[in-house]
Amino acid sequence: MTLTIETLGGRGDGIAAHRLEDGTPVSVFVPGTMPGDRADVRLGAHRRFGVEGSLVRLVMPSPDRRRPPCAVFGMCGGCQLQFLDDTCYAAFLADRVRDTLQHQGISGVPVRAAAVSPPASRRRISLKAEGRDEGVRLGFNARGSHRLVDITACPVARDSLVALFPGLRDTLAVLLAGRGRAGIILTATDSGMDVLLDMDRAATLQDRDILTDWAGTNDIAALHWRDRGLMDPILIRRQPVMRFDGVPSALPPGGFLQATAEGERALRDAVLSAVEGSRRIVDLFAGIGTFSLPLARGRAVLAVEGDGAAVTALRGAAGAAASTHRLTVEHRDLFRRPLTADVLARFDAVVLDPPRAGAAAQVAELSAGTVPRVVSVSCNPATFARDARILIDSGYHLHWVQPVGQFLWSSHVELVGLFLR
Ligand SMILES: C[S@@+](CC[C@H](N)C(=O)[O-])C[C@H]1O[C@@H](n2cnc3c(N)ncnc32)[C@H](O)[C@@H]1O
Repeated sequence: MTLTIETLGGRGDGIAAHRLEDGTPVSVFVPGTMPGDRADVRLGAHRRFGVEGSLVRLVMPSPDRRRPPCAVFGMCGGCQLQFLDDTCYAAFLADRVRDTLQHQGISGVPVRAAAVSPPASRRRISLKAEGRDEGVRLGFNARGSHRLVDITACPVARDSLVALFPGLRDTLAVLLAGRGRAGIILTATDSGMDVLLDMDRAATLQDRDILTDWAGTNDIAALHWRDRGLMDPILIRRQPVMRFDGVPSALPPGGFLQATAEGERALRDAVLSAVEGSRRIVDLFAGIGTFSLPLARGRAVLAVEGDGAAVTALRGAAGAAASTHRLTVEHRDLFRRPLTADVLARFDAVVLDPPRAGAAAQVAELSAGTVPRVVSVSCNPATFARDARILIDSGYHLHWVQPVGQFLWSSHVELVGLFLR
């Protein structure tokens, strides 16, 4: 049947209104479509929120559609929205934030224009490889599947990452010897490329030799082999570091890092503007100091983080920058032992940037306390909105939200929100 797509859903699927034969109104979710498209659609399974549809043919494309830049668009599971023009894509991210807040009954909040990272800016990518008789498949999974799509380029990744693909493919062909799978995380750090291989066996001497050769030829800074969780440093030619406010902080293998430098800047600028006038700040879920170090220039900052390796890195950075930055670091599990309302009362502002699950226990303490300013950074609008509802119900007012798109052409969006009371 032919449908007109009216909106985009939270996962980036086009949505059309339709009536079933018995007259029941339903929403049809059609991946690969956008508002303004007229499309022939095959109806599929009924889900809780509507009916799945698959695109058979575009009858009349939306005028805002553009040619997807990637050669494996539609096959690779990433970047499913690259046919949206830049304006539509930025509007989609802001709408996604607005809609998610609305689901929690939060409306009327100024949602700023999304800060979207440009193509070729992703500084970390997580690839998969599969050994096959005819060679190695290297790439990303197809959408909703474990089938690997082979890639030779990636328009969202930095050129320095893509340049490694051919040599990496040849090296993995020897390591995988025609069978098995591997995960590869490539990170362009400020001191060079960091490589983490996820394997399901220990490294042999031959593996080490091959990898050492490849690393030397490609000026790799560090390479670790993770065998079912066990970290084996194959070589460390230079310590991978990231600089925050000019201060180098060591990046542990696989340690958290904002996905693009542009996204990091947008998040940091929003955080710094949100704490203006605050002198004593606590930065919760601090990682290796993305926000703590810029915050600690001219202000007293306590950074709290649960990962031991990140804490060691941030303590090292804080020690080295002690003459310019006032930063202390606490190692603490904030899910089990959130900072209590009494402790929080010592600070003018709280910055928190939890993992996707949000920070329910910590937000409960904040809502019972008196801190005048809470800056919430999140990679998950749903848990941001859930936690926002709790803060608002306890007397905070949400002043603005800044969406940040670091995962270009995906439905993923990060955000910063300022709460005052
Ligand atoms: C989204 S990252 C943010 C890190 C940092 N703010 C940044 O922007 O680079 C979340 C951080 O929370 C930390 N984390 C996860 N669970 C935690 C817990 N239960 N207690 C404290 N920190 C935790 C992770 O190790 C990670 O560093």
